[in-house]
Amino acid sequence: MKFVLFALLIVMTFAEKRSQTTSFFSKAILDFVFPKDPGLIKVRKMNQAERMNTAKVLDFIGLVERHHYPAEEHSVTTEDGYNLIIHRIPRSPLSDNQKKKEIIFLLHGILASSESWVLYGPNKDLAFLLADQGYDVWVGNMRGNNYCRSHTNMTIYDPKFWQYSFHEVGTKDLPAMFDYIFNYTKQKDLYYIGHSMGCTSILTLLSSKPEYNTKIKMAILLAPAAFWMNVSPSFNDFINILPFVKEVLREREIYDFFPQSLATVTTARTLCNDKAVTQVICIAILFLIVGSDPPQLNITTLPDILSYVPAGSSVQAFEHYYQNVLAKDFRHYDFGIAENYRRYKQKTPPSYDVKKISAPINIFYSENDMIVTEKNILELDKRLPNVVTKKVPYKLFNHVDFLWAIEVKTLLYDNVLELLQKFDFKQNKSKH
Ligand SMILES: *[C@@H]1O[C@H](CO)[C@@H](O)[C@H](O)[C@H]1NC(C)=O
Ligand SMILES: *[C@@H]1O[C@H](CO)[C@@H](O)[C@H](O)[C@H]1NC(C)=O
Ligand SMILES: *[C@@H]1O[C@H](CO)[C@@H](O)[C@H](O)[C@H]1NC(C)=O
Ligand SMILES: *[C@@H]1O[C@H](CO)[C@@H](O)[C@H](O)[C@H]1NC(C)=O
Repeated sequence: MKFVLFALLIVMTFAEKRSQTTSFFSKAILDFVFPKDPGLIKVRKMNQAERMNTAKVLDFIGLVERHHYPAEEHSVTTEDGYNLIIHRIPRSPLSDNQKKKEIIFLLHGILASSESWVLYGPNKDLAFLLADQGYDVWVGNMRGNNYCRSHTNMTIYDPKFWQYSFHEVGTKDLPAMFDYIFNYTKQKDLYYIGHSMGCTSILTLLSSKPEYNTKIKMAILLAPAAFWMNVSPSFNDFINILPFVKEVLREREIYDFFPQSLATVTTARTLCNDKAVTQVICIAILFLIVGSDPPQLNITTLPDILSYVPAGSSVQAFEHYYQNVLAKDFRHYDFGIAENYRRYKQKTPPSYDVKKISAPINIFYSENDMIVTEKNILELDKRLPNVVTKKVPYKLFNHVDFLWAIEVKTLLYDNVLELLQKFDFKQNKSKH
């Protein structure tokens, strides 16, 4: 859906170069896909009839409480002024609530939010499974997504608000959220689980501020984007339009990339539902980008899922990845020679020194992930000093199956839970 519009946008913009008459349409489409105001109403409760109301979506707490699990919302401000929301599932109706709980912190990928961990419900989503196991589950949000569009000194209409990528998320958002959680729970370390950019961010933090390594008991990285030794042809086509898209958006002063909005929710619900003839297009475009896995995609859930993803990010976040793809490296943002000298004291941006990452890392990746390919994972695996890397035992597993696959519990999450249990057990043994 969003990508259909996106493709349309590109076609329109190309057409615009030839004829002035189409510019009206391209402007209309741009305003629709990148609205100045999301135009959505987030609610805690919704009845069946209201689910068809395209202006309404549940918030995190609503998504969790509809399954009779408790949920909380916390806020914290980063050292550079971004107001972030952290969500929490403090316990489960199924777990023993007496014992001291260990913290697990989850962080979503690009264009997602805390909500992407709780869209399906208990017995399926990792956040609920972890709560059932007795963990204290905290779910982070990155600056710029639908929960974090606020700053002490800036509005979202300020281009500076959007000058960030995984680097700022890793070195500013994560420390603010971790420190808040440690202070609140009086604990001093946590388990970390990230997906995609949620992994890039923690790798950035642990290599830039190594003192955080002791605060991470173990990090589980699902499809971690870091090194870019090779990219799949379809992903290559997709990212190669980025400089062009950036230019089009910059001309129109759009820095806010695919926010969760009335436009995305309406398109998801009308174009991607089971009765729509356009549903096949939604699926085709999705598979083109993330890898094709028809058996594991529950297409009936598409209108729901795509109402919450995309949830917004910055153009610069994509651009930073794009630079790394060109450089075939995992390195700092390239500001241009003058600014690079000022910031890094060298002409080109330095690489992240992942050798400094001493916290135990466990990687899960998959063969059919068109974004984070096997070669890139093996490069990361080779360079990390304390890592165990496993491939998901299913050939078609793609980049979003880490959250959406019909059998994600048996293919992946059961292994994650087992890994955590074994780690707990080992730690307890070495303590006593
Ligand atoms: C916000 O603005 C005030 C006054 O200009 C300044 O002192 C402060 O450092 C700014 N805070 C951030 C986080 O940029
Ligand atoms: C730590 O938590 C207490 C309440 O639990 C709060 O009063 C205090 O401001 C917090 N400190 C920081 C630095 O967040
Ligand atoms: C797909 O999703 C629908 C709606 O949530 C659900 O009723 C159905 O059981 C799901 N199918 C599978 C195979 O999980
Ligand atoms: C390890 O100890 C913690 C408390 O320190 C406890 O919550 C946890 O259940 C123990 N894990 C195992 C596997 O014994």
